[in-house]
Amino acid sequence: ALVAGVCGQPIVHSMSPLLHNAWLAAAGIDGAYVPMGPPEDRFEVFVNGFRGGVIRGLNVTIPFKERALACADEASDLARLAGAANLLRFREDGTIFADNTDGPGLLGAIAAQAPAFDVSAAPVVILGAGGAARGAAAALLLAGAPKVGIVNRTVAKAQAIADALGDKVIAAGEAELPALLADAGLVINATSLGLGGGDGPPADLALTPPGCVVMDMVYKPLRTEFLQRAQAAGRPTVDGLEMLLLQAVPSFEAFFGQAPPAGVDVRAVALAHL
Ligand code: ATR
Repeated sequence: ALVAGVCGQPIVHSMSPLLHNAWLAAAGIDGAYVPMGPPEDRFEVFVNGFRGGVIRGLNVTIPFKERALACADEASDLARLAGAANLLRFREDGTIFADNTDGPGLLGAIAAQAPAFDVSAAPVVILGAGGAARGAAAALLLAGAPKVGIVNRTVAKAQAIADALGDKVIAAGEAELPALLADAGLVINATSLGLGGGDGPPADLALTPPGCVVMDMVYKPLRTEFLQRAQAAGRPTVDGLEMLLLQAVPSFEAFFGQAPPAGVDVRAVALAHL
């Protein structure tokens, strides 16, 4: 059997086993996708134990994505720029290759739900400066965004991302947000605000140009307060669930050597679980 898995801490809430095992069953593949929760202080020992061994690869989630990149012998450009990996492949020669499929997931979600979006046409504004914000900025830069503004309560964290990603990325505080919104082509909530049904980040989305796409990386609930405000302002919206579902597609291909089978409604599988 082909075995892969996902590791994080905590791991019980991960939706990945549900998705991958639904695909495995539908494709008739002799395989399994297993959730794993290594102790936080022993992540490196856990990963290195799989070198050249029995499992094909691992997805990696919070809080291990940065440490996963550091464990790898080789990494994709995107993983390096994002400073994080959500996919590790264990190669037969004992080496580890790190990749990041959150970026393709983000771009795919926008393509699916806001097909008119042109990444090269206007600046991007990202709210928040954690790992999710850096990953989004890296993916959008590689996809051709002309400028990325990172706005955060703690400006020093936004500045650290700008320093790592180069001069197309600028750091800003909340006072500069209205000016950035006024010529944005895409606004992304990459803060944790809105999780569990609370208020999203305080950005006046009506200041954005008509047609500006608004995305939320928070997907619990699916229609966040932030997306509801975007919709009220008449802006096209993209939800975080689509990103979560689409990051799983290249992971499945890397683990099991084929695309996920058509005909599995993974969005419905996920929604039943939210
Ligand atoms: P992740 O790795 O998932 O991106 P994170 O590193 O915890 O998560 O980042 C959370 C983001 O949400 C940060 O940008 C954080 O702002 P600070 O860097 O100033 O802490 C932002 N955030 C969380 N709670 C917030 C709040 N009440 N107001 C404003 N920003 C908040």
